[in-house]
Amino acid sequence: MANEINHFQEIISHCKEYGYIFQSSELYDGLSAVYDYGQMGAQLKKNLRDEWWKSMTQLHDNIVGIDAAIFMHPTVWKASGHVDNFSDPMIDNKDSNKRYRVDHLIEAHVETLEKSVGEALIAEMDQLLSKDDLAGLKNLITSNNIKCSISKTCNWTDVRQFNLMFSTQIGSVAEEADTIYLRPETAQGIFVNFLNVQKTGRMKMPFGIAQTGKAFRNEIVARQFIFRMREFEQMEMQFFVRPGTQKEWYNYWKETRKKWLESIGIPAEKLRYHDHIKLAHYADAALDIEFEFPFGWKELEGIHSRTDYDLSQHQQYSKKKIQYYDNDLNEEGKPYGNYTPFVVETSVGLDRLFLTVISLSYQEEKWKKEDGTEDSRVVMKIPPKIAPTKLAILPLLKKDGLPEIARELLNECKPHFHCFYEEKDAIGKRYRRMDAIGTPFCVTIDHQTKEDNTVTIRFRDTMEQIRIPITEVKKLILEKIS
Ligand code: GAP
Repeated sequence: MANEINHFQEIISHCKEYGYIFQSSELYDGLSAVYDYGQMGAQLKKNLRDEWWKSMTQLHDNIVGIDAAIFMHPTVWKASGHVDNFSDPMIDNKDSNKRYRVDHLIEAHVETLEKSVGEALIAEMDQLLSKDDLAGLKNLITSNNIKCSISKTCNWTDVRQFNLMFSTQIGSVAEEADTIYLRPETAQGIFVNFLNVQKTGRMKMPFGIAQTGKAFRNEIVARQFIFRMREFEQMEMQFFVRPGTQKEWYNYWKETRKKWLESIGIPAEKLRYHDHIKLAHYADAALDIEFEFPFGWKELEGIHSRTDYDLSQHQQYSKKKIQYYDNDLNEEGKPYGNYTPFVVETSVGLDRLFLTVISLSYQEEKWKKEDGTEDSRVVMKIPPKIAPTKLAILPLLKKDGLPEIARELLNECKPHFHCFYEEKDAIGKRYRRMDAIGTPFCVTIDHQTKEDNTVTIRFRDTMEQIRIPITEVKKLILEKIS
């Protein structure tokens, strides 16, 4: 375990050192559970978002994308159930004043127990959680003598529910001000636009609406770097289907999403399904696709069969009819008629996906050189398709016309993919820096280039170097990243 924690700390430091992720407002000692993406991180995040968007919208004829506002009418959150239900049971330790999410506190304790005892405790906790039995949860904590990790005491407050939504005021003068929320999920922006998109896009059932964007949750226990943040980005898709077909589509999306995660380079054995036992208030089936993070198996993406809950709720609260007229013929040869569609949702956190890619890519390699001495490197083996920079162009020397040839190649390649130009430092040092940043290909222009128009191309993952004609570089990289 200690090794895994160290490894995770190394990944976090590496992300900072190479411009991937910085603590938000670091200049002012930081803001907890909020992060900024640096020059490399922003590009990697964009590449992941673009891949998702392409796979959802461009590659599915029946899915379209939207971009709804973060601010929404406050009644949206009443209708969705977030005002009343979007809370976590929390407990405070009176000696340390540290607040814990009850399930996290119990789960951490379970890790110290024998397997069968721990499983029984989790089962008991799940039962109490499903009944919202707050007194029972407190009793479970005290009777098992679960202690605060800081004060090491068992001096607990009662268990209370804390709503996770951030609120703010809209309106210029105080009297006019009205409380609105920063959206805790992007999904509701899709539901309230269901009719707009269906009508203007002439969408026929089944069809989907996709969206990416920021979401905000006042997570009390925010930890593990970008795994649980207070401001994060979601990539969600709501797939609207005929009532009664939701199970079939749930299975379809369960498979399709896992395959997509594999297609961006996540090995199948690092992913698994976890069916929900305790279902959210809107779901008739739900599962997580979990990834084996450096700190254990955790949720990466959720697949939820949300029934007709959301559209029905918005219909009730807005007092506007939200239905679909289906004129396709059923088995009896009659149109299906009017109904409220059912919804299957896929929801993945972009930041969690980023963490997944980074955790898989970060590697420390050691090997023996021919002279018997040891060499090592830190390398980020980010799949070329999503790597922030695809190609480094490196003139061997800053003279003899080599930079001019290199810049010509740069101008040829940069309209097609992201390149990096560097003429400082010894070539070995430049290669190491590109390994650490995760650039999959480096091209070196040397004196031989002037004679025969060939360059050395070096492959990050194998460190193999071959000579190819300079005219082949663009084509080769395009092949590798397609
Ligand atoms: N619309 C459904 C929904 O929001 P969720 O399981 O609460 O469901 C979906 O969130 C995904 O959003 C999660 O699988 C996770 O990847 C991401 N996510 C949720 N809370 C997060 C947080 N505090 N920080 C980072 N990502 C988060």
